[in-house]
Amino acid sequence: MPATLLDGAKLAAQIKDEVALETRALAAQGLRPGLAAVLVGHDPASEIYVRNKIKTCEQLSIYSEKIMPPETITTAEMIALVDELNARDDIDGILVQLPLPKQVDAKRVLLEVLPEKDVDGFHPMNVGYLSTQRPGSVPCTPAGVMEILRRSGIEVAGQEAVVVGRSDIVGKPVAMLLTNANATVTICHSKTRDLPGVCRRADILVAAIGKAGMVTRDFVRPGATVIDVGINRVTEATEFARFFAGDAKREADFAAKGSTLVGDVHPEVAQVAGALTPVPGGVGPLTIAMLMSNTVKAMKLRRGASTNAPAMSAKN
Ligand code: GUN
Repeated sequence: MPATLLDGAKLAAQIKDEVALETRALAAQGLRPGLAAVLVGHDPASEIYVRNKIKTCEQLSIYSEKIMPPETITTAEMIALVDELNARDDIDGILVQLPLPKQVDAKRVLLEVLPEKDVDGFHPMNVGYLSTQRPGSVPCTPAGVMEILRRSGIEVAGQEAVVVGRSDIVGKPVAMLLTNANATVTICHSKTRDLPGVCRRADILVAAIGKAGMVTRDFVRPGATVIDVGINRVTEATEFARFFAGDAKREADFAAKGSTLVGDVHPEVAQVAGALTPVPGGVGPLTIAMLMSNTVKAMKLRRGASTNAPAMSAKN
């Protein structure tokens, strides 16, 4: 039986509806959350992400500002820009889109964002809060992965979870969240011996490597839940055929656009997994929904506001 597809777009819409209830309750008190997104340069993926973030803010009545400094900006100038945003009371969340140009010390810039405005959860203070199970901002994609599991009724406690990829943005925080939720967690990376064998131990397999279709069916224990965090653009016909030969819908998409998206998980995994997040339409939509949720939470904490919307009264 093919895997149940976990519909990220539907879950993201639920979360956004919950956030909209909150912004409405805040508006009734004359309050509006505000998000500043800083985008440097012209990385095509970053441009799309930031555009979608701003659009979603508009849909949810969150004030947003897109700041596009010149590509030649220095670390000192970035720090000064972040300081200005830190000082503004109408800005509750500051998002510095990564990657930054080479001449900018990204780690130094992220350290400058006030932890209470750090809606990406990248500041070492928030990393420490997550690791010690204190309330704080949790990185959006990992938080989205946990929401998919929770809202799909997938048990985490006591399960074997394997995370492939150890990035600061996804792999490490998702492993920490799974650990905090009482899974038994293994983190794999490029030096892991017998990667397919380790992955086959997983009840929950999270792929966050950034390599198209790397997780093939031999990585997956039949019935396992597979969460695909990868978003890779395929433009080569031979590569396309390796993933999607015989899939009429994908073939039409590829013919029309000259490219299509594939995750880190090979589509053949749908034949063995119990549940699987599709790409596109799986984890991706959750990332923005969680950013909106983090922005409203940050506002409520920093400005001492409260709402009575029940969905957001859970811990964190
Ligand atoms: N670049 C890739 N993913 C992210 C993200 O979640 N936040 C930011 N700020 N930059 C990114």
